[in-house]
Amino acid sequence: METAATATTAVPKSKRRKASRWTWVSWLKVVVFILGLVPAAAIVGSVVTGKAGPNPIEFITHSTGEMALRLMLLGLLLSPMRWWFKSTVPIRFRRMVGLFAFFYVMLHFLTYAVLDQQLDIDALLDDVLKREYIIAGFVSLLILIPLAVTSTQSMMKRLGKRWVSLHRWVYVAAIAAVLHYIWLAKGDQLEPLIYAAVLALLLGLRIWRHFSRKTKRVKPA
Ligand code: HEM
Repeated sequence: METAATATTAVPKSKRRKASRWTWVSWLKVVVFILGLVPAAAIVGSVVTGKAGPNPIEFITHSTGEMALRLMLLGLLLSPMRWWFKSTVPIRFRRMVGLFAFFYVMLHFLTYAVLDQQLDIDALLDDVLKREYIIAGFVSLLILIPLAVTSTQSMMKRLGKRWVSLHRWVYVAAIAAVLHYIWLAKGDQLEPLIYAAVLALLLGLRIWRHFSRKTKRVKPA
């Protein structure tokens, strides 16, 4: 008869190691995953219960757009967090946060294209050509698509150094997203400008780190 002891030894070593890798970070990932879905559930809830106001399409467009931008900036905050805390833990959430940002961008775009423009290609093209904020939104979306597609471990391995160069395009996508918000905001520009300031700070930190590391390397011993 198989005992608990024999059952443990029957499990291959590699599998046992994998099972023991379920750490507090794994639990935190589950929590972050659920948290990432909460805004989508809240948006659906508001629409279903009539709390979305007289124009639910506008409500969904605005909520998903803001969520996408916030998550994009949160994703960009994770690298500076790694430097400050001298820990790789924040980096382990980068892919999930990035993919959630992409998820909300897609919901945002589909709300606009399907619900607002009813997939009318002429109307869509007309809007793209007439409104610069739509062009900026498209630029951001088009950059994010290859980044999401290549976010897997296998693509990371396959692309090697090129993966890093490709994923640096997230900075351009973030700049285009902030410009999209600044250009569409009529009247009060405070909120889009706060996002612009946060992005400038996040990009500034990277530039500062790049140059400070370079000068450290050049310093004579
Ligand atoms: C093809 C791509 C996109 C299209 C067609 C699009 C379209 C729109 C439209 C029609 C609005 C509402 C404009 C209004 O109120 O007059 C909007 C708002 C917004 N979009 Fe986009 N968008 C795109 C991409 C993006 C991306 C990539 C982001 C961010 C990552 C983003 C973030 C926002 C934000 C933050 C708002 C404002 C929300 C608010 O007013 O509170 N959009 N977008």
